[in-house]
Amino acid sequence: MRYYRKLLVLLFLSIIGQYAFAQNGLNIIPLPQSADFKQGTLTLPKRVTVYAQSADERNVASFLTEWLKQYGKTAVVSNNKASLIYLSSANSDIKNKEGYQLLVGSTGIKISASNGAGLFYGLQSLMQLVPMQKMEALNIPHVKITDQPAFKWRGVMLDVSRHFFSVAFVKKYIDVLAFYKINTFHWHLTDDQGWRIEIKKYPKLTQVSAFRKETLIGAQQLLKADEFKYDGMRYGGFYTQEEIKDVVAYAQKRYITIVPEIEMPGHSVAVLAAYPKLACKPGPYETFTKWGVSEDIVCPSEQTFHFFENVLAEVVQLFPGKYVHIGGDEAPKTVWEQSDDVKKIMKDNNITDVNKVQGWFNARIEKFLISKGKQLVGWDEILEGGITPSSLVMSWRGEAGGIEAVKHGNDVVMVPNQFVYLDYGQNKEMHSPLEPNNICCYLPLEKIYNYNPLSKDIAPELQKHVLGTQATLFTEYITTENKAEYMIFPRILALAEVGWTPAVNKNFEKFKGRLGQQFPRLDKRQIIYRIPEPEAAKSDKEGKKVILLSSIVPKAIIRFTLDNSNPDETSDVYTKPIEIPKGLNLKIKASAFAPNGRHSVPLEIAVP
Ligand code: ACM
Repeated sequence: MRYYRKLLVLLFLSIIGQYAFAQNGLNIIPLPQSADFKQGTLTLPKRVTVYAQSADERNVASFLTEWLKQYGKTAVVSNNKASLIYLSSANSDIKNKEGYQLLVGSTGIKISASNGAGLFYGLQSLMQLVPMQKMEALNIPHVKITDQPAFKWRGVMLDVSRHFFSVAFVKKYIDVLAFYKINTFHWHLTDDQGWRIEIKKYPKLTQVSAFRKETLIGAQQLLKADEFKYDGMRYGGFYTQEEIKDVVAYAQKRYITIVPEIEMPGHSVAVLAAYPKLACKPGPYETFTKWGVSEDIVCPSEQTFHFFENVLAEVVQLFPGKYVHIGGDEAPKTVWEQSDDVKKIMKDNNITDVNKVQGWFNARIEKFLISKGKQLVGWDEILEGGITPSSLVMSWRGEAGGIEAVKHGNDVVMVPNQFVYLDYGQNKEMHSPLEPNNICCYLPLEKIYNYNPLSKDIAPELQKHVLGTQATLFTEYITTENKAEYMIFPRILALAEVGWTPAVNKNFEKFKGRLGQQFPRLDKRQIIYRIPEPEAAKSDKEGKKVILLSSIVPKAIIRFTLDNSNPDETSDVYTKPIEIPKGLNLKIKASAFAPNGRHSVPLEIAVP
């Protein structure tokens, strides 16, 4: 008896211990490589001294200061090495440029890295060590975290052409990306439906190409052409060069590189609307008002090269990063096949396949980019025209393009649509009326979480060419910033872990526990994330089916119905497992109601 009691006490202590552990440390997303917790916590005083000297240390100290202010603490930054918090971006023992070590002990906090980015990431981990619930106390557990990313390229893409997103939104997004250690923001700035970047040499790009006269209503893929309806409302917008510079500087402070995308030769109808002479056949053209792929693409003429080189000359001035994305996807050759100009190019250059003209076109654009010190990035279609050894391939039509590209020795970023396209739905039911309209398919949190950019079909010696991965948000159906957030969050947190945490350390069940702790943080940032449905476990007890419901959202209330209606504020509150006698066929619908006032779509549970 006494033995059992002891065992129970031990079990109890171990559960409490695990709870405290989860409360303290392992709520960090993405999961650090190692975290060694010690007994005790450090309580920060009202006035916190911070050592920071180099430009990077001072930059990171400015974020630390802002953070401490939220707890009513004042940071005093100086070059006094005896400060309570010590920031070092000059620790050459840390080999990875984004790696860091974070030490919290009774005498203070030390974050060290060999680079600004690593130091910044150490601070993000420190901020996540403190649960939101304990905001006032600011007790930090004693811990040693040693960490570095699995992949160099941890990105997101945002399409601002199909729908336009404000500078304020982009900055808010960059803030959260940095918090989850994502380091690349791919800005899809041009497409058929709108050109979004001011180019001084071509004012008509922002006077004409940045606007469309109206927009198709509803899900185009569900409609026949004769059912298309338009809203009759002029739509558009663009970023001035000053705004772009401001966003680039904002991202740089957060160690995020922006990769601009200027689409060519396809997805260029908006360009032709302003500059029809760049087409192989006379216009007129207008900025696209529906979605999909247009056969009207720019002609690979001298005029077109001249145009894009002038555009890129301004683009490379604005974006200091190494990469420039030139699109290259979905460029039908219908018009090129019929063009005498293209036939002449083929004859002059000994090209027999019209698809190879795109490779020839890209090679010339690449030469220009290289002359500006930049590396060309393109979607995987650039493989079809034949690619140069130095282009970077984004494999979006599955992984095949990436697998092929590494065999040529090219670097790749894996963005297979079925795993990382955030415009895909989050509900098993396609086009559920309870979800925002979406373009296609079902991409749940678990599927994106379990993605591994290192395909088994890539030989070990070629894996070094896989730079990483990124989530992609095309915005045909993302009409508002709130919808964008709903599609991005929380799936982007899963992607952050795909990019940072080695596959062997990933575990979806544990991730969900940590994710729950992030929801209050997203609430604080006023992000309209999708609230996950409750989870259900069924068991049998004394001839009954027992349904246990739970939610990963802290403090969520679960409400349920048995009459097939969708739970709302008036529905029964779940307080204990639901017991259903054998022989009954019922459907339970249960939704999680979060403290932020929003609720999930229902989970449907058929019983038995
Ligand atoms: C793409 O989704 N067309 C890159």
